[in-house]
Amino acid sequence: MDRISITGGRRLEGTIPISGAKNAALPLMIASLLTPETLTLKNVPNLADVNLLARILRNHGVDLAVDGKRPGPARYLGETFHLTARDIVDTVAPYEMVSRMRGSFWVLGPLLAREGRARVSLPGGCAIGTRPVDLHLAGLKALDAEIDIEEGYVVARAPSGLTGARIIFPKVSVGATQNVMMAAVLARGETVLENAAREPEVSDVARCLVRMGATIEGIGTSTLRIQGTDSLEGAVHTVLPDRIETGTYAMAVAATGGEVLLEGARADLLEAALQILTSAGVTITETNRGLRVARNGGEIEPVQVETRPFPGFPTDLQAQLMALMTRAAGTSTIRETIFENRFMHVQELARLGADITLQGEQAVVRGVPALHGAQVMATDLRASVSLVIAGLMAEGETVVHRVYHLDRGFERLEEKLSGCGATITRLVG
Ligand code: UD1
Repeated sequence: MDRISITGGRRLEGTIPISGAKNAALPLMIASLLTPETLTLKNVPNLADVNLLARILRNHGVDLAVDGKRPGPARYLGETFHLTARDIVDTVAPYEMVSRMRGSFWVLGPLLAREGRARVSLPGGCAIGTRPVDLHLAGLKALDAEIDIEEGYVVARAPSGLTGARIIFPKVSVGATQNVMMAAVLARGETVLENAAREPEVSDVARCLVRMGATIEGIGTSTLRIQGTDSLEGAVHTVLPDRIETGTYAMAVAATGGEVLLEGARADLLEAALQILTSAGVTITETNRGLRVARNGGEIEPVQVETRPFPGFPTDLQAQLMALMTRAAGTSTIRETIFENRFMHVQELARLGADITLQGEQAVVRGVPALHGAQVMATDLRASVSLVIAGLMAEGETVVHRVYHLDRGFERLEEKLSGCGATITRLVG
């Protein structure tokens, strides 16, 4: 299994191109199930999760053509996918596939809406808490679907189609909002989703659905009003930049010191995180090419943060922020309110010398004068990149094992960081 070796202590200087957002690309690809016409997606990141979802969608009958790769710096521009689900040949999403990527569970709503039936395995995915799907199922039931659980599969039927409804989500869920929204666009009549997730990736999918002919009002707010239609058309849509990748590299620069242009990044997608970084002593400037992030001298100031649904501080940046705060000049508290078990990185950071105490859903991080390189294990996608950030700060060599987690969500990580002066290499095999 591949590992990543990092020798810490180098400042980051240069430019890092920001890729298309994984968490938008996945549901956008799934949206192709809603129309027999071609959905063209530009700026799709080249990631293990994207490739796995492509395989899952092919199983359902989606034809995928990818535009040729471009040489030179343009290789960073992401890929263009042409997805065509002329006929749905199979409405079953098997365990072997869904268990490897939780996002693929979201095929349930579109398959059900278009074909009147679907059989989708209950998901697996990152080991960050129990992550149930009750909100997805309650939402689809409200649209008149019959839902049973049989042998680990969700069996959904709507023989005479779905019917619009008013749904108030008891909890904000990105996945349930996406799943139910994608079903509601092909339902009869109006659906109103209240307490819907406002994450930029949800809005990106909603905008793409509108391009495909859907009628959705309230995009970007917590109330989405959807008028169902009989059929959708093809469209061309560009995946928005990845705010989690942006925040991750911003924290890496904060950690090492230096100055980096995050090319293509948009501040409006992660204001809460940028505010926290600013209060930690980082200078962030918006330019017409992206975000310039700098920390030139000065200490890392401690912060008090809790994760929240958008526009709050994202849970997907919690581990990275914690890595940064291990070297702060004081004590930080980081409260995780979205996922109950998302602290697996704590033990690994401790192997590098971090001083972190867990008190229920809160981590108390006491800054230490230095971290020291060690062997560490990646446990989930965001936790693994927090170990990379810690490795960049640590004295000596850090080896991160199980980097397949990183490959699920970070495109060309080693290349992007080494291009800015980091000593980081992949050890293959
Ligand atoms: C998505 C993101 C993930 C991010 C998360 C929160 C993708 C592919 N993944 O995951 O990177 O960390 O949003 O921003 O976009 N919940 C229920 N019942 C449900 C569904 C969710 O109780 O039916 C709970 C979850 O356990 C969690 C909370 O709701 O505590 C939020 O989860 P949710 O927003 O659904 O996360 P995902 O969509 O799985």
